[in-house]
Amino acid sequence: MKILAFNGSPRLKGNSATMLDNAIQGARENGAEVELFNLYTMQFSGCISCFACKRLNKERPIVCVVKDDLQPILEKVREIDAIIIATPVYYSSETAATRALIERLCFPYLNYADYSNSHFPRKIPVGLIYTMNIPSEQFEPLGYNITFGRTKDTLARELGSCTMILANNTTQYNDYSKYEANTTGEAKKAYRDTHFSDDCRKAQQLGQQLATVKSLIS
Ligand SMILES: Cc1cc2nc3c(=O)[nH]c(=O)nc-3n(C[C@H](O)[C@H](O)[C@H](O)COP(=O)(O)O)c2cc1C
Repeated sequence: MKILAFNGSPRLKGNSATMLDNAIQGARENGAEVELFNLYTMQFSGCISCFACKRLNKERPIVCVVKDDLQPILEKVREIDAIIIATPVYYSSETAATRALIERLCFPYLNYADYSNSHFPRKIPVGLIYTMNIPSEQFEPLGYNITFGRTKDTLARELGSCTMILANNTTQYNDYSKYEANTTGEAKKAYRDTHFSDDCRKAQQLGQQLATVKSLIS
């Protein structure tokens, strides 16, 4: 069982990386071999709309052809059993690097002739982790369930299935007195102390589940 894990935050020890570490730990507990990639340490772009992956000839590539740091990792996706992606929310979306990953990962498998049928040759599960500043009560009123639901559906349609988990009201600064904020460090700490370990436990369980779901040959 091989899993690729992607940290879509520029912060290598931030909330998303911590959630991802817990998911990785859970997957390893259940025997998976996990490789971690920090997207912000890599040089790559999003889809460049070359449409090489939509050509109707024998040279049609099976993964994105754009040559950069991401390309060899996309090659590996053909052989692995699960994927975990963790991203902070930036402006009500995934981070730019995470969006770029999802475009390059999914678009070659999108079947332009029959959207209900993916070109990916197998079905594998994806774990999708979001961390965000807003409290959970604002998640639906702000439409995040719709936006992130679309990303979840895209990953599920092209790769197999997708499970999404969240961490809300995360801490951004070590010292809130030194930065602009609409809250205090005490309030953030109180919330984190009572909730973040539960969020991390959910991430660990997600990793455990991903490591036990067998990839299905379609
Ligand atoms: C550029 C930027 C934009 C952000 N936009 C949002 C947002 O739209 N909604 C939200 O809930 N949090 C937003 N945040 C807060 C982060 O999503 C949150 O603090 C997250 O947990 C940070 O994750 P990290 O520690 O892994 O980097 C934003 C943070 C940054 C730096």
